[in-house]
Amino acid sequence: MGKPESSAEGRPHVPVLLAEVLEALAPLSGARILDGTFGAGGYSRALLEAGAEVLAIDRDPSVRPFAEALAGQFPGRFRFIPGTFAELDSLAEGRVDGVVLDIGVSSMQLDQAKRGFSFMQDGPLDMRMTPEGDTAADLVNRLEEAELADLLFQLGEERKSRRIAHFIVTARAQAPIATTGELARLIEKAIGRKPGDAHPATRSFQALRIAVNGELDQLVEGLFASERLLEEGGRLAVVTFHSLEDRIVKRFLDPEKAGPTRSRHLPQDVEAPRNWSDVQKARKAGPAELAANPRARSATLRSARRTAIAARPLMTAGLGMPGYRGAA
Ligand SMILES: C[S@@+](CC[C@H](N)C(=O)[O-])C[C@H]1O[C@@H](n2cnc3c(N)ncnc32)[C@H](O)[C@@H]1O
Repeated sequence: MGKPESSAEGRPHVPVLLAEVLEALAPLSGARILDGTFGAGGYSRALLEAGAEVLAIDRDPSVRPFAEALAGQFPGRFRFIPGTFAELDSLAEGRVDGVVLDIGVSSMQLDQAKRGFSFMQDGPLDMRMTPEGDTAADLVNRLEEAELADLLFQLGEERKSRRIAHFIVTARAQAPIATTGELARLIEKAIGRKPGDAHPATRSFQALRIAVNGELDQLVEGLFASERLLEEGGRLAVVTFHSLEDRIVKRFLDPEKAGPTRSRHLPQDVEAPRNWSDVQKARKAGPAELAANPRARSATLRSARRTAIAARPLMTAGLGMPGYRGAA
């Protein structure tokens, strides 16, 4: 395999669970694979090297140089189209043998202070993956206190959400909160910091990022688009980085996890038809990968094969979506 691509600033993005993803999507030679989250192209490159044809999508226009490098190296077998999961059907132009989704932020997004994703570096409070829409600063300075608390609790599982929301609303009455550093210091002031624990702003920053980018709705769009786009026997591999997303993927692939699957219209001993077979248990990074790439710690891979059953209409019921979800 080639070297990981370098980001313009900071560390290269190291693809997580790469061997497991390739295994989940096999056989790859001659297969048409949709990489819905191109990033620095770590998965795309490995898929191309294994003989697949790759159509790559990313909503972040700044990944284009990585895509151009791959297009030059694999002429005729690689194509990049900017766009989001919600547009996958029209972008894919036909059915595919495999789909991979690696949900979340890339190292390039996280490491560039000006993108505003990280509380470790001071930058504008932005967090958008695309140049349009509300920034994190817009939400933090506009939402009512109760709405802000719901956002932090539901999308970040932050137990001290009310206290943080109260501190934010009090502070912004003096002057708008404009930078990641200001927000991180404010959260630390609100809930304190214990030595050895993760930074107190970790959960709040996760919540804001998910809200700003409508990440949970996007994930659901991506899953149902994959169901429509995959050929019978085609494979889906999804890597997620926290429990909210993993729960959605688990329930999507195996509706029994979301409640009874037996149809009201069928006799009690007849199972409702399944859209996915060979649903694999969640896979996590092993010790060698964790030692080399600490970011892999929270990654979970789920995979399955598409059956011949007609694709379901998009529905969020039973997937465990929180009430507050942010931008669509
Ligand atoms: C974790 S990175 C992917 C890294 C990639 N697998 C690699 O090996 O370099 C996630 C990427 O997906 C993109 N992304 C996230 N949500 C998206 C969505 N809803 N539609 C399209 N792209 C999305 C982000 O902009 C980011 O570049």
